Amino acid sequence: MNFKYFTLSIALSTGLVACGVESKNEQNQTTNAKTEETTPKEPKLSELALKGEQLFQANCMQCHLISKDALIGPGMSGVAKRVPSKEWAKKFINNSQAVIKSGDKYAVALYEKYNKSVMTSFNFSDEEFESLWQYLEEAGQ
Ligand code: HEC
Repeated sequence: MNFKYFTLSIALSTGLVACGVESKNEQNQTTNAKTEETTPKEPKLSELALKGEQLFQANCMQCHLISKDALIGPGMSGVAKRVPSKEWAKKFINNSQAVIKSGDKYAVALYEKYNKSVMTSFNFSDEEFESLWQYLEEAGQ
């Protein structure tokens, strides 16, 4: 074998090795992409709660977070278990000031704690309130 052919064959085999390494890398990348796709998502809300979520985002989020953290008003985490009753929540959401003025102890204490910030009054139908409540129960764990 003369020198010219020797260098040529080295060049060729280096090329082949390089190609082999490259295609291996590509395979690794595709495997990584697949793992990311199968990462679990947040727990799903029921259909009713999803309606409530829309109402919450449109009417409540400027003052309430669904987490434990307070904003203008208290964080909504655990609220469904915390308030005196579901009926109480309905009255309070539709007219918090009326509940506070009636002397309701829980409402007055909350009002004092939040520096007498006045919550907006709403006029939700029974269906709308049910979906909001469902959302608070499911998402506000
Ligand atoms: C303008 C701000 C504001 C908006 C908008 C608002 N809230 Fe409030 N909310 C408050 C404040 C402040 C309090 C604390 C009591 C008070 O000061 O009257 C409160 C208290 C509450 C409570 C009692 C919380 C507890 O810890 O017991 C519930 C339930 C509640 N809000 C639900 C809602 C829902 C549902 C909406 C949307 C439909 C809403 N709020 C919209 C400000 C707001």
